[in-house]
Amino acid sequence: MAVSIKEFIEGLPKAELHLHIEGSFEPELMFEIAQRNKKEIRFNSVEEVKEAYNFSNLQDFLDIYYEGMNVLTTEQDYYDLTWAYISKVYLENVIHTEIMFDPQGHTDRGIPFDTVINGIDRALKDAQTKLGMTTVLIMSFLRHLDEESAFKTLEDGLKHRDKIMAIGLDSSELGNPPSKFERVYKTAKEAGFKLVAHAGEEGPAEYVWEALNLLDIDRLDHGNRCLEDEKLVAELAKLKMGLTVCPLSNLKLCVVDDLKKHPLRTMLEKGLKPSINSDDPAYFGGHMNNNYLATAEALDLTKKELATIAKISFETSFLSDFQKEENIKLIDDYLATNS
Ligand code: ADE
Ligand code: ZN
Repeated sequence: MAVSIKEFIEGLPKAELHLHIEGSFEPELMFEIAQRNKKEIRFNSVEEVKEAYNFSNLQDFLDIYYEGMNVLTTEQDYYDLTWAYISKVYLENVIHTEIMFDPQGHTDRGIPFDTVINGIDRALKDAQTKLGMTTVLIMSFLRHLDEESAFKTLEDGLKHRDKIMAIGLDSSELGNPPSKFERVYKTAKEAGFKLVAHAGEEGPAEYVWEALNLLDIDRLDHGNRCLEDEKLVAELAKLKMGLTVCPLSNLKLCVVDDLKKHPLRTMLEKGLKPSINSDDPAYFGGHMNNNYLATAEALDLTKKELATIAKISFETSFLSDFQKEENIKLIDDYLATNS
């Protein structure tokens, strides 16, 4: 008997390439950690927190996102946060994940960089040894802060070069173009980091050009607004640039007003390489399978198209060519027996 689209998605091996670990912080764990650290939160219950998750743009969300992470203090907190995410997506057949963290969201409150990264890294190592997952860690700079702060963070990151594969750029996009971090990216590239950046989420196509030409990115986070510029679309297709698309995030942050109008199908038709990701699952209504399912239902995606998207998630990952091929083979086998 043919499996339903939901069952097909649940069993589909997939990679997550756009996930802010602080955005996976569920209110239940937030209360638990606040209590053990004797920190105040301005909400009285999990329900009250969830009611506050109504956003009309990116900044609305970021304000509450930075507030939420304020309770994280000890290495164990960062371990618990990361392990909670890993345990969740492991059950969703996410077999590879590339997660971002925002060091400045912690170091600016006096938490040592080492505390943050050691907790996250320990959970990622456990994901590898206990669950057989593969993982990558991406250190993101907050673009609303200045270049000096990014350089300082890069210096911290260089002391943990063995734990970090890539650097990224996130936070408030409008008014903070990629050009602001051109020199930081140049230094990071010289140090051998892979490079990603958020661009074209709220910002114009011009910001995506800057991410390509000035930052020399290896992968683009979001990129929705590239579709406003035909030349840019052609360039991204020529480069086989991965676009880490986040459908439920786009809906929650009003980047699209209806998932039926989501550009993912158009991206595929234009020869781009979009993957499906959750961005900040605790805030936007779900992890990977919810994102796959909501998008499949809204855009009428077939099992074959969903398998193509999952293959793109491996193809545009930072895994080795051998690992990419192995994972893509898994998807081919899965599709052959489950369509
Ligand atoms: N930080 C966490 N989520 C983000 C997003 N969707 N865009 C920019 N910065 C972020
Ligand atoms: Zn993001």
